[in-house]
Amino acid sequence: MSRIVYVNGAYLPEEEATVSIFDRGFLMADGVYEVTSVLGGKLIDFAGHAARLARSLSELQMAAPCDDEELLAIHRELVERNGIEDGMVYLQVTRGNPGDRDFAFPADDVAPTLVLFTQSKPGMAESPLAERGLKVISIPDVRWGRRDIKTVQLLYPSMGKMMAKAAGADDAWMVEEGAVTEGTSNNAYIVKDGTIITRHLSEEILHGITRAAVLRFAAEAQMQVEERPFTIEEAQAADEAFITSASMFVMPVVEIDGAAIGTGTPGPVARRLREIYLEESRAKAV
Ligand code: PDD
Repeated sequence: MSRIVYVNGAYLPEEEATVSIFDRGFLMADGVYEVTSVLGGKLIDFAGHAARLARSLSELQMAAPCDDEELLAIHRELVERNGIEDGMVYLQVTRGNPGDRDFAFPADDVAPTLVLFTQSKPGMAESPLAERGLKVISIPDVRWGRRDIKTVQLLYPSMGKMMAKAAGADDAWMVEEGAVTEGTSNNAYIVKDGTIITRHLSEEILHGITRAAVLRFAAEAQMQVEERPFTIEEAQAADEAFITSASMFVMPVVEIDGAAIGTGTPGPVARRLREIYLEESRAKAV
């Protein structure tokens, strides 16, 4: 069934939605995005995603296409029109269409391009993957230096996914100067002697909205958290490992570069955090 998508003010069947070949998102990857989950027809942590979008836009001196209230209304309209019970809303803002190709940013009167579409994933919170756990491989992190900005430059993360698939794994953790930065499209964690360890926030990783929520819930549940870099060797010797993202929530990792983590099955901390995250997020969804 054809989706209804949103492009620059219009709700259209997906076949009719178009963006110019001169759009800077297409020519220069000059765009930013957000992925917001939907559970039970409601948006998970919309305010967090809207705040990060505003930050990404401001870091790139890109104009905001509209205010947060309008963005929320568009998200809700798409969820409604496409009958999304569980799934995601993808949003992308680019620097727009200056009418030609030029490395310099266009003048301020070029309007940003705003595109949103939904992805339906019925039962996504009950994923069998959460029972099995993910296998990851490590790969060098060769991305650019501003990974805190959520840009659409996703070629290397896509290549990383393919490297993982070729190795019979589910995903890749990227490593820079000996320490794990993050997963291809998620934040990475290990658990040792009850302490949750995850890399501190900086320009080297995306400031995950799920990460912020999970660390808050962990603190509320009196769990110990250390925000610092960790190595692959430390991860392989950990009791547990897991990842977080808007689309995977909290997802256990059971193998890194062929070495089983702990018992090789999803651990109690990851399971508990997944439960708490889903429960609290559903309760606060809008
Ligand atoms: N990815 N790190 C990277 C590199 C990411 O691409 C993502 C999200 C995250 C987790 O951020 P959040 O918890 O806000 O989703 C961390 C999204 C889901 C994607 O590209 O589909």
